[in-house]
Amino acid sequence: MSDAPVIVAGGGQAGAQAAVSLRQAGFEGRIVLVGDEPSLPYQRPPLSKDYLAGKLEESGLLLRAEKVYADQRVELMLGEQITAIDTARRSISLASGGELAYSHLVLATGARNRPLPAPGAELDGVFYLRTLAEARSLRERLGQTRRAVVVGGGFIGLEFAAAARAHGIAVSVVEAAARPMSRVLSVQMSSYLAARHDTNGVPIILNRSVQRFVGENGRLTGVVLDDGTVLEADLAVVGIGVLPNAELAEAAGLAVKNGVVVDENLLTSDPFISAIGDCASFPSSFAGGLIRLESVQNATDQARCVAARLAGKPTPPYNNVPWFWSEQYDVRLQMAGITSSHDQAVLRGSPDDNAFSVFCFRDGAFLGAESVNRTPDHLAVRKLLAAGIAITPEQAADLSFDLKLAAAPPAAAAVSAAK
Ligand code: APR
Repeated sequence: MSDAPVIVAGGGQAGAQAAVSLRQAGFEGRIVLVGDEPSLPYQRPPLSKDYLAGKLEESGLLLRAEKVYADQRVELMLGEQITAIDTARRSISLASGGELAYSHLVLATGARNRPLPAPGAELDGVFYLRTLAEARSLRERLGQTRRAVVVGGGFIGLEFAAAARAHGIAVSVVEAAARPMSRVLSVQMSSYLAARHDTNGVPIILNRSVQRFVGENGRLTGVVLDDGTVLEADLAVVGIGVLPNAELAEAAGLAVKNGVVVDENLLTSDPFISAIGDCASFPSSFAGGLIRLESVQNATDQARCVAARLAGKPTPPYNNVPWFWSEQYDVRLQMAGITSSHDQAVLRGSPDDNAFSVFCFRDGAFLGAESVNRTPDHLAVRKLLAAGIAITPEQAADLSFDLKLAAAPPAAAAVSAAK
């Protein structure tokens, strides 16, 4: 390897983890982290949950204290944008001018909000929610908000709706699809969540999108839907998904397909560039092909995997079990596996008890599960998937079937204890 540093592009969950893990894995060379956001790397998940609800302050969001980067000799270049990658010269160009050579480049450039191209989207009162800066301005506005309309019934929209209700704000959600969170959830779980929002006074308007935002004196007053319905609102939050930040990679000639394409070692089509986290499209046995995941688990695990490889450690192909979570009101939703292709969904427990799981199968094969307030189910499913242990729909539905035991059968436990 040359004397040039490893450059980590992006200061989110994946980038910060990669930089610190690289040092912890024994890498001795220079590590430079370049991130365009001005703040120290922070956790995004609480932004739409406890931070908005006023239960967590900014200091509680930091992934690591500044001192940790200094101690680990990670050089931070924050508020700095990478404008180009020169793969032939192995260097990056910076917006502030100048170039930096790398021995290896780790792309952890993440994703950005998908913009809603509706007239009036520039009105004061229309917000997005992904960065700390966006969450900060949104939180400041909540105190003056009476009626909010959420565009998109996904993770961001539904978590925002729950947080806004905690502030006593009237909220409606407009969702283009036939059910909320349909990208990731089963019909059963979507219905349960819709009912919980309804109970909390949040209607989810389905099969509708926004035609335009209307306002007075530059300030939002309402949202017009595609059927002409006008929803009065002094605040709107748009959460209609994200787009991977893959343009730098594409311009540099790397393979890009719904994100930067990597192999099972998270290496791009250039041997000196890896990609991890929200921006990476990687092969996963759980997806049966290339997939791009937006989650803390994926960002953290992929960062550790690349760090170990760059530190010269033997690394098995990356194939970790994907898992996700969401919090809405008192609902703690946990998901394990990639279940979107399921053709059979089986209930374990009852939604009436506000504690149940939905186990998903395809052609009888176990794909994963969604759990509400049943963390032991979720943890057992993660173990089952990691060990490649299949369970049947009948076993999943049978509350007397011991999932934990199935996930760690005595024979397997004895083998791992002996290791
Ligand atoms: N009008 C209304 N709804 C729309 C529109 C539209 N024009 N376009 C898309 N939607 C809906 C989708 O059907 C989907 O239900 O918006 C929802 C977006 O949900 P997600 O894909 O979950 O995206 P989002 O909520 O923006 O969250 C983005 O941030 O918190 C992270 O990891 C989390 O992956 C998630 C990411």
